Amino acid sequence: MRILGIETSCDETAAAIVEDGTKTISNVVASSAEIHAKTGGIIPENAAREQLKCIIPVIEEALNKENSPANIDAIAVTVGPGLVGSLLVGVETAKTLAYAWQKPIIPVNHLLAHLYANWLETETSPQFPAVALAVSGGHTDLILMKDHEQISWIGGTRDDAAGEAFDKSARVLGLGYPGGPAIALEAAKYVVNNKPQEIKLPRPMINEKNFDFSFSGLKTAVIREVQKLKENDQFNDLTIQELSYELQEAITDVLVSKTIKAAEKYQVKSILLAGGVSANQRLREKMQQAVNNKQYTLHIPPSKLCTDNAAYIAVCAHFHRHPTPWSEIKVQPGLSITGEL
Ligand code: KG4
Ligand code: ZN
Repeated sequence: MRILGIETSCDETAAAIVEDGTKTISNVVASSAEIHAKTGGIIPENAAREQLKCIIPVIEEALNKENSPANIDAIAVTVGPGLVGSLLVGVETAKTLAYAWQKPIIPVNHLLAHLYANWLETETSPQFPAVALAVSGGHTDLILMKDHEQISWIGGTRDDAAGEAFDKSARVLGLGYPGGPAIALEAAKYVVNNKPQEIKLPRPMINEKNFDFSFSGLKTAVIREVQKLKENDQFNDLTIQELSYELQEAITDVLVSKTIKAAEKYQVKSILLAGGVSANQRLREKMQQAVNNKQYTLHIPPSKLCTDNAAYIAVCAHFHRHPTPWSEIKVQPGLSITGEL
């Protein structure tokens, strides 16, 4: 079974072919992040315009390695959540191809699909029950997976997502977009410099018994620290590095603590990480340390599969195979991770 996946929910235009839900035949991603770096964040109209320019060449490149649409059994496409203009480009293209090639089309939930990067190119697939932490630019969710189709939401952010906290704080620190990798880079410099730590940030909701998160206060705390440093003429490369380090520690401490608590409560066999923020090296290290000698296994996709791509869209469609007539497929910009397609 070969599925062509198409992903255009935000600023990446992606197409991939995956066989039997596990083997990548091709995986092509074009990103317009550089354009958004110039505007300090994504302007939806710009993202949609770039999607339009890239969609056909990206699908062609993904197919080229395969040679013929005749070898494709189905088309999977992200229908939400995401930016409506961007989503429409992928959805309308997928519908057109499904109609022209007479192929079934499978609508995919982008957030749920992130988790399926953990089934790709691995010899040890996650075992159920599993708890999954989905951390991206727009979402932070903890999910209990009893099986592929038995999924429940157990907690999530009440305000900003973890990626959003990275992105917004990076802007305040003058580090550009996307903020996560920029903050990680500055944090690494702080560790090398070995400067004594003076700045401390809160760990919001870390001791609360629920599985919810709140990251908007952290962004506010960063703004306050920056104001204080500027007033004292101490806002410089070294303090930017220190603030970046402490922000990364604060965010990752909370993510790890809540995920482990959920794993213990639900007595899972696996923990899954997914989404752009799970590319963060410090989060990966801390999570690894936390599961040492535990009865559950940790699954984290390779970094390049954590950020948006279409391979995991095809994998998700393999395990959630609900072909839908093309005329019934609609974009769902506000879809939640457990939302009905
Ligand atoms: O999943 P994703 O690629 O797109 C969405 O669906 O949102 O996630 C993008 C988010 C951005 O907020 C970006 O700053 C963050 O993932 N991110 C990182 C890292 N790489 C990407 N955050 C922390 N550390 C990273 N290395
Ligand atoms: Zn994503």
